[in-house]
Amino acid sequence: MGITVHPLSDVLGAEIKGVDLSNILDDVTVRDIHDAWMEHLVLLIRGQSIDDRQLVEFSSRFGSLDGAPIGSERGGKVSTDEHNEITVISNVIEDGQPIGGLGNLESDWHTDMSSYDEPPAASVLYSLEIPPTGGDTSFCNMYRAYETLPREVQAKLQDLKAIHDATLTSTGGLRHGFEAVKDVTQTPGARHPILRTHPETERTALFLGRRTNAYVPGLSVEESEALLDMLWENSTKAENTWTHTWQVGDLIMWDNRCAMHRRDPFDNAARRIMHRTQITGDQPFYKPPEVTPTAA
Ligand code: SIN
Repeated sequence: MGITVHPLSDVLGAEIKGVDLSNILDDVTVRDIHDAWMEHLVLLIRGQSIDDRQLVEFSSRFGSLDGAPIGSERGGKVSTDEHNEITVISNVIEDGQPIGGLGNLESDWHTDMSSYDEPPAASVLYSLEIPPTGGDTSFCNMYRAYETLPREVQAKLQDLKAIHDATLTSTGGLRHGFEAVKDVTQTPGARHPILRTHPETERTALFLGRRTNAYVPGLSVEESEALLDMLWENSTKAENTWTHTWQVGDLIMWDNRCAMHRRDPFDNAARRIMHRTQITGDQPFYKPPEVTPTAA
């Protein structure tokens, strides 16, 4: 019996049924999941009961895995002891120390680690403990964010890059080793093309990363702010987003090359523990789509 694919919205997202991730998946199942992922950008697989080894095993069927990022706001590494590839996202404090990153605060719209020259292609997030309310995660479709722009704006973006801030976490905390940005033209972080060709689907997406401290080199700060505000508003408007309310045992995998995400805050008296892996990516690039000649 193969998997079945159930779209979750008109925007993006599909639930995959008929799969138990505690088993090693055969190649056909992995290919079918991959194909559904490329079509729907974000996949949900519910009701799983897996350990870190199985999470790493499943994630690595889709590419090599990054180590957990260093340089969180507390300056530490947020991986588990046994698996360097697992990043712990949690508000839980044990023995006076946070067991993971991001706490209970709102995490603003972003693409994971987009300040890297080669940001991760994708992320896989598995829920171990969730609060009774809050902590929902939303996603937006960056293909549609591009496709719904006026033609003249699309054309203008072809030659532009943006700086992706390296100083702040997605909850706004200053990363260890960085100083607060005073002048956005000097923001530390990678410069990526604003239009991004997806290396697998070859579709064009907007690639914005994160809003705070972003800057478009070559424009005045005022022009850059106005352009970025317009692009962010278009990308994250309600009709371009889908929100997931977590249950324990949910696994979500998203494609960072064509989707951004954000998380709602939640009550810090409740516990939320998620384990995340990141699939290694490559340097973002833009290749204009080939124009098919029309018949004379
Ligand atoms: C993340 O930004 O990777 C975390 C999302 C979440 O905690 O739901």
